[in-house]
Formats: sequence, structure tokens, C-alpha cells
Amino acid sequence: MVRLVQITDCHLGAEKNFISHGVNTYESFSRVLHEITTKLPPSLIIASGDISSSGEECSYQLFSDVMESSLIPYRWLPGNHDDFLMMSNIIVQPFVRVEKQENWAVVSLVSADPGNVAGVIAKDEIEQLRSLLKNCQNYFVLLFVHHHPVSINSRWLDEHCISNNWQVEEILAQYDNVRGVFTGHVHQERVTNWNDLLVYNTPSTCFQFASDAERFQLGEKAPGYRWIELYPDGSFDTGVNYLKA
Ligand SMILES: [Fe+2]
Repeated sequence: MVRLVQITDCHLGAEKNFISHGVNTYESFSRVLHEITTKLPPSLIIASGDISSSGEECSYQLFSDVMESSLIPYRWLPGNHDDFLMMSNIIVQPFVRVEKQENWAVVSLVSADPGNVAGVIAKDEIEQLRSLLKNCQNYFVLLFVHHHPVSINSRWLDEHCISNNWQVEEILAQYDNVRGVFTGHVHQERVTNWNDLLVYNTPSTCFQFASDAERFQLGEKAPGYRWIELYPDGSFDTGVNYLKA
């Protein structure tokens, strides 16, 4: 069994005392990471974007320092609040496209479009996806991407859905070894069926959004993270844990 953990939407500020929507995001991120390392240490952590609240250099330094001190291998991808170039320069761990874990391939896809809150998979990312799935046919594949590719039944968040999701759909339809899609951005736990592929949304390490909401509304859940346990036969278990007060 291979255990992965997904953390997402850390929204770190430039300083450790930065507060967003009533939450000290550095503190909640550190608490989440402490729980992961002590309760269910994984072989890999994937941070699926919006690591920073507004792309400050110091926020990436804070992230990098905490992740490095955990001694757990980690990967990251950018969200709409991030500065891809800056984070690539600051975070000690570089961006990695595909990570192989036994007979599983963990694939990172970029949906962040500079200057845009909504997601789009750029042309070169579509080409990357096409070629890497071709090369990963002997592996079971999990896809990690910041934005959600399909409606989560919240009107204001659905406006940020990956706008060219049909192009991704077309590629994924050619492969039966892609086992799941894992996203951030929506700050809530949810599972949605996308043409027989399950999409797992993961709560933020700081504040959450209310589900099934017409417009912006904070949720009441605590900071959280998702664990994923992969088996050699291509099946997996997954669930979400929230910090206890
Ligand atoms: Fe986001």
C-alpha cells in the first residue's frame, strides 16, 4: 500500500501572523502538517495550489521551510493565487510533472491562468497530458489539478470551473487506467462523477467554503486534508480528516 496525502489552499501570507477570513493560515497549515506527520505519515504529500494568499515571496519561503522540516517528500502545483515562476524559484522542491510510486503515477496538471480566477488548461498543458498518459499506460494514474473540472453545485465557484474541460475529457476518455482526479480551489470536501471518473475536492488547510451555495459563503468546518491509500490492483481508499479544536 502507498499512502499519499493531499493538502491544498494554504493561503499563506508573507508573515506568520497573517490572518485570512479569521484564520491564522500559517498556524493552521502547521497544525495540519503536524497531524499528518504524527498520525499517518505518507510517502508523498501533494499541495494542490493556492499555497500563497497573494503570491508573496516570503509566503513560499514559509511553505518551503515547513515542508522541508517535515522530512516527507512533497510535490506542489500552482493555483490562481500563486505566482508559478516565483514559487518555482523559492520553494526548495521544484515542480514535478509525474511522480511514480510503485505501479501508480501521480500527475500534476496546471490549471492556473495568470490574471484569471477561473481555471483553464493551456494548450501546452493539454499536449503534456496527452503525451504523459501515453507514456503511463503501465501505471494507474491519479491526476492532481487546482481547479475543479465539473460543477460542484455552488454557482459562484462553478464560474471558476476549468473552462476547456471538454478537451481534458476527450483525452481521459481514451484511457481506463486514470483512476481519479483530485482538486483544490473549492475549500470543501466533495466527490463528483465526471463521465464515470470520480473527482475528489479537498478542504483547505485554513478556512472552508459552504457547500451548495449561490454566492460566496464561508463554511464552518475546521482545517483539513485528504489521505489516499493506493493498492497494487488499481483500487484506492480515500477520506478527509479535519483538525479537532
Ligand atoms: Fe484557488
